[in-house]
Amino acid sequence: MSDPIRIGIAGLGTVGGGVVKLIEASRNALAVRCGREIEIRAVSAKNKSKERGFDVSPYAWVDDPMALAGLDEIDLVVELIGGAEGPALDLVNQAIANGKHVVTANKALVAHHGPAIAKAAEEKGVTIAYEAAVAGGIPVVKALREGLIANDITRLYGILNGTCNYILSDMEQSGRAFADVLAEAQRLGYAEADPAFDIGGFDTAHKLTILACLAFGAAVKFEDVYVEGIEHVTAADIGFASELGYRVKLLGIASREADGVAARVHPCLVKREAPIAEVGGVMNGVTVEGAPVGVTVFEGPGAGEGPTASAVAADIADIARGLRQNVYLTPAKDLDTRPLAAFSGLTGTYYLRLTVIDRPGVIAAVSKIMGDAGVSIESLIQRGRKPEEPVAVVIQTHEVRESVMAEVIRDIGALDAVVEPPCLIRIEAV
Ligand SMILES: NC(=O)c1ccc[n+]([C@@H]2O[C@H](COP(=O)([O-])OP(=O)(O)OC[C@H]3O[C@@H](n4cnc5c(N)ncnc54)[C@H](OP(=O)(O)O)[C@@H]3O)[C@@H](O)[C@H]2O)c1
Repeated sequence: MSDPIRIGIAGLGTVGGGVVKLIEASRNALAVRCGREIEIRAVSAKNKSKERGFDVSPYAWVDDPMALAGLDEIDLVVELIGGAEGPALDLVNQAIANGKHVVTANKALVAHHGPAIAKAAEEKGVTIAYEAAVAGGIPVVKALREGLIANDITRLYGILNGTCNYILSDMEQSGRAFADVLAEAQRLGYAEADPAFDIGGFDTAHKLTILACLAFGAAVKFEDVYVEGIEHVTAADIGFASELGYRVKLLGIASREADGVAARVHPCLVKREAPIAEVGGVMNGVTVEGAPVGVTVFEGPGAGEGPTASAVAADIADIARGLRQNVYLTPAKDLDTRPLAAFSGLTGTYYLRLTVIDRPGVIAAVSKIMGDAGVSIESLIQRGRKPEEPVAVVIQTHEVRESVMAEVIRDIGALDAVVEPPCLIRIEAV
């Protein structure tokens, strides 16, 4: 058996604690499978005296996580502090500079600094592994880096945030309003006290940025990803979607377009029978489309101590076994740095819900705006008949350009008889 790989772990919270427990519990099995032991040499967290439910005394304690990057007896630094900047970024940069491999679960850090970190790591000849940063326990990074390496990836899309999926799944099952379900999710611990980052789609966008860089060999900038959250999805929309044969899901979608890579996060109507529509509750799911493989679908737990520790341990084991690869497969210096394909230029079909005063001529006015813009209607439902009162009108369009649809919505919203802002949800062909 080879010499042990010696690791230092910064951050002993949900994920870090899980990693320590998993590595100790599976010490023998991992040693056999890796051909060498994984030895935790040193750890760091903010509060040394905190009760963690496991014994930290076998490991050297360092108060400043940066010290881990400087310890000669450490081969690999595991960053589980969190945050795109600050101590996590400093630690990763210093570890690379000192020639140490890095494993991280930090999606914010990789989404914001991935290409720069990748370049530094590749120049230094060290590996950065980040399986746990995307979809927790699902080995989708590994699938893209290894199992699908020979493919030309054309599109990938995923449910990458368990909080949003829990809320949308519960709204469909219970018929309750968004705010009620969110409040319950917070009580149950499925949503943060400040849920804006999750429900606004930004967490999904972090993970999508990472997957898009990897799948398309592009230096995708998080700031350039189109992001729309689920706050405006109502129980009525979920009900109408269901009648039309769809479920509403928050998807992160990246695709190769004629003018570059497109990356967007927004609620979508997806056919009920599609595998991604079956991913319910807090689970995550990712579909990858490529040639020659076709469509591959991954589903599993996207967060939590066990699944995330499983992914971190797998990255550590890979490095222990000598697996060395570029951070995004494509060397960082060769990543495609063109801007993302313009969101406004993408085409798709749309679900549009209008709240209109039920009076003669309203539908004709709406149809005229759409017709003048060249938008053809696949179906139109008017629910209820209440003269001079608001009623819901639901329209499905045929294929249309995003920029055209934006103008249509603006013009329809300006009609006197349209009494609420139009609700638009994109229909994703899956
Ligand atoms: N939780 C999940 O399910 C999950 C899933 C996927 C990815 N992730 C990612 O994993 C990372 C860790 O998440 P987590 O949920 O484990 O967070 P957490 O429970 O809040 O743990 C953070 C840890 O970092 C330590 N820490 C904070 N600031 C520090 C500093 N300045 N110096 C040293 N240590 C410091 C904390 O110390 P104390 O314990 O002493 O306070 C704590 O042990 C994040 O990047 C997160 O995005 C988490």
